[in-house]
Amino acid sequence: MGKIDPRVEKIILTNKELNAGIKKAALWLNKNYKNKTPILIPVLKGAIPFYAQLIKDIKVDCVSDFIVYSSFHGGVEAIHDGSVPNVITDLANNIHDKDVIIIEDIIDSGKTLLSICNFLKSKNPKSLKTMVLLNKPKARKVKMEPDFSCFKIANDFIVGFGFDFEEKMRNLPYIGVLKKSIYLEALKRSKNK
Ligand code: IMP
Ligand code: MG
Repeated sequence: MGKIDPRVEKIILTNKELNAGIKKAALWLNKNYKNKTPILIPVLKGAIPFYAQLIKDIKVDCVSDFIVYSSFHGGVEAIHDGSVPNVITDLANNIHDKDVIIIEDIIDSGKTLLSICNFLKSKNPKSLKTMVLLNKPKARKVKMEPDFSCFKIANDFIVGFGFDFEEKMRNLPYIGVLKKSIYLEALKRSKNK
């Protein structure tokens, strides 16, 4: 592995570990959607590296669609109070009566996944399941659990492999914890806005 980014406190998941966990997600999907043609819906932008790796091991016929959903708006705190639009770009496909799987980067408070589920449920899919790369079980604020999660992690602000800090650092090949001092500075900035 190359040099660790100076803004990262420690690496919690290497690229190799991530890929091994994502392989298990593909196996789960292959087993549960045998003889079906699910519509896979990665939530942009965070789920891109996860989805790109996942799709290589999917053996069932599937269709990809995308939803752009934002709760952070570039900061470090989610906004779910209706003051900003959360669904930025809607699906291209009609999911009525289809088997749908939301592919999300992380479940933290659970508000994002719950909100996306409710939005997609209103389109009357035949089934709706959720798959996440990371799960922060201790951070939950609403009743929402994913159907499959690759890794459970502690309640830290993480970056890399699709996860951003103020829209940057998504490109790191690993997942690391952002240095606390940097996180706290950003939190202060967003509170003073
Ligand atoms: P939730 O609504 O609190 O569950 O937050 C979910 C969304 O917040 C995810 O889709 C991520 O985009 C973002 N998020 C949550 N935790 C982190 C983190 O530690 N680093 C970067 N983004 C995060
Ligand atoms: Mg997200």
